[in-house]
Amino acid sequence: MIRMYDMHIDKRINNIIQDDLMVGGKAVETFEKKYAEYTETKYAIGVSSGTMALSISLRALEIYGDVLTTPVTFQATPKSIMNNGNRPIFCDIQKDTWNIDPIKMGEKIAGRVNAIMPVHLFGLPCDRWILKELAENNGLKMIEDSCQAHGLKKTVGDCSCWSFYPTKNLDCNGNGGMITTDNKELADKMRLLRQHGDEHTLGFNGRMNTVNAVIGNWKLMNIQYNNNMRKRIAQEYLEKLNGVVTLPYHSNDHVWHQFTIRTKNRNKLKEYLYKKGIETAIYYPKALNTYPIFKANGICTNAVEYCRECLSLPIHPKITIEDIETITKHIKKFFN
Ligand SMILES: Cc1ncc(COP(=O)(O)O)c(C=O)c1O
Repeated sequence: MIRMYDMHIDKRINNIIQDDLMVGGKAVETFEKKYAEYTETKYAIGVSSGTMALSISLRALEIYGDVLTTPVTFQATPKSIMNNGNRPIFCDIQKDTWNIDPIKMGEKIAGRVNAIMPVHLFGLPCDRWILKELAENNGLKMIEDSCQAHGLKKTVGDCSCWSFYPTKNLDCNGNGGMITTDNKELADKMRLLRQHGDEHTLGFNGRMNTVNAVIGNWKLMNIQYNNNMRKRIAQEYLEKLNGVVTLPYHSNDHVWHQFTIRTKNRNKLKEYLYKKGIETAIYYPKALNTYPIFKANGICTNAVEYCRECLSLPIHPKITIEDIETITKHIKKFFN
């Protein structure tokens, strides 16, 4: 079986865990410092997950209204908005990049809209500079959901949220997350909120575990190499599948968290590849604006169409050139 992910635990990790407390401590501080350097951002706050990073950001920025976001993302994005007592409003995606469309977002800014939460889907940066301008011109806060985009530099919004869940480009062998920001006051507030807050504020238990910080920091050393491997695999796929299926948009700063193709025969192709010993995944089976929990707000035609056709192929760094040969050979055979 060619697996979608490689999730082995390295035995050397056992030898480097030395903090007795197991929550917070020096290892978290070190990871924060290194991650801030890596992202070229002033401050980094280690937290317990990507979802917690989003929740703390919403609370720290005092968002009390509607938040614009994309319908093509993991459900944690809009659910963190809802869990904070806000309403997610969905804006359609672009036809080519599958990221949120700034024009459609501009059209939705009205009334109670307080913030925007764009996502860098599958590691492809969205139009974040345009979105920042849009936010600034309309007095909105901007929280970047960078949970799939490790390798992306700078924090363009008020803050950026990262997940180190085991399937990510940078993982910590468990749950873990980070918030990056250039705003010191905001960073201090976030540190307070991750530990329940104080007499004036309502916080969370959002602390990062020591063991996950040690592992995350250790894996940070390999991120560049791993991202380069992903890029190489993506280039192979792009060449070999040219003209066979609809290919993903590519740009130099894409970190290839997923390699996703589109075809009208998606379900049959998935089944066929599985029988040939190749795992694939559907990210995502339904556009989030169609989930009943979100009260069906927003018509997002591009998103609905995308979700009918998308299929993600294995792209973790241990996929070999031979694996790609096998996968693409079977895809071509399926269409012949
Ligand atoms: C786009 C996006 N946002 C938020 C999250 C939530 O992160 P976590 O699973 O670490 O809570 C994820 C990850 O799974 C994600 O892919």
